[in-house]
Amino acid sequence: MSGLPAADAAMLAMAARTAARRAYAPYSRFHVGAALMFADGAIVTGSNVENASYGLSLCAEAHAVANAMGEGRRGGLIAVAVAGGKPDAVGEAELGPEAVMPCGRCRQMLHELAALGGTDPEVIGVAAGSMLHVPLSSLLPHAFGPANLA
Ligand code: THU
Repeated sequence: MSGLPAADAAMLAMAARTAARRAYAPYSRFHVGAALMFADGAIVTGSNVENASYGLSLCAEAHAVANAMGEGRRGGLIAVAVAGGKPDAVGEAELGPEAVMPCGRCRQMLHELAALGGTDPEVIGVAAGSMLHVPLSSLLPHAFGPANLA
């Protein structure tokens, strides 16, 4: 199931894989990249950033949301691709057979950015040889968000 043109999904998946190369994940050795696509065509990426104090680690999606909001974006989020895996000899995340999907905290952070523009972005988990497409509203039903505080 996918409303996003296949070429856009492929481009976004590639951006997520490229971002995963920039992961700083010496502790888990699990490199993740996230790529956000906006209605104006912009793509904003993030990668996971770990810390010697393990619990402080940042997920790739959280980093991407912070990057986007830090450049002033408030809404317009139409799709999110996530790619992750153990790095190979040249630092490329080796994708597994199962798509990596955003963790619970990241679903909430993505919802905040999406809700500001009233979109329900397509979340694309990039696996080896396939992609899983799920609307964010299905990953985080009955979400708490900005509207609750209005
Ligand atoms: N990670 C992400 O970046 N995104 C997710 O959605 C799941 C987990 C990162 C956090 C940590 O650096 C590593 O993957 C292993 O959990």
